[in-house]
Amino acid sequence: MTNRIGIYPGTFDPITTGHLDIIRRSLRVVDQLIIGVALDTTKHPIFDVNLRADLVRQDVADMLLEDSERVAVIPFSGLLINFAREHNAKLLIRGLRAVSDYEYEFQMACMNTTLDSSIETVFLTASEGTHFISSRFVKQIARLGGDVGKMVSLNVARHLEAYFEAER
Ligand code: COA
Repeated sequence: MTNRIGIYPGTFDPITTGHLDIIRRSLRVVDQLIIGVALDTTKHPIFDVNLRADLVRQDVADMLLEDSERVAVIPFSGLLINFAREHNAKLLIRGLRAVSDYEYEFQMACMNTTLDSSIETVFLTASEGTHFISSRFVKQIARLGGDVGKMVSLNVARHLEAYFEAER
């Protein structure tokens, strides 16, 4: 019997309901899902990698009661392809929201295939209601005191509030 291991990588600064939608649906495609929380990212995250991973873990635990043993949340540094090899994963999963995501995602998938052609990238289209969500806008809204309750969990919303409160 095959054990299909997939990696859903991201910065997750912070995890949103859009990411959770992709995580839930990824479990239809893979047997084991590793959520890789990237240390090396071109973004400048507000939360450190361990807190980002903890927030993902808590949201996943709240969402997937009977499937949670199929999901692991692991911070990683260095190349994504090396992380995938280390964990014997043959699939990289990415979410696609809009045409604007396509060029960046296409380029990243091609680069990763060039590095290791045995690892495939699979795209899941974002579900209705999550197309507009982005971590960047969530942070912008939270910074300005807006309500992000429809875009992130209550736990994440509280962490954002505390972060921006301390910044003021
Ligand atoms: N619904 C809603 N929002 C979504 C979404 C969905 N289904 N899917 C993605 N997003 C949003 C995220 O909120 C995020 O928004 P932001 O840009 O405003 O922050 C954005 O789309 C994508 O972020 P994320 O999913 O966290 O991924 P990323 O693009 O930050 O991650 C890595 C990139 C970590 C995968 C990449 O940098 C990497 O592989 N790093 C390791 C080093 C490496 O191997 N580099 C070579 C790569 S070729």
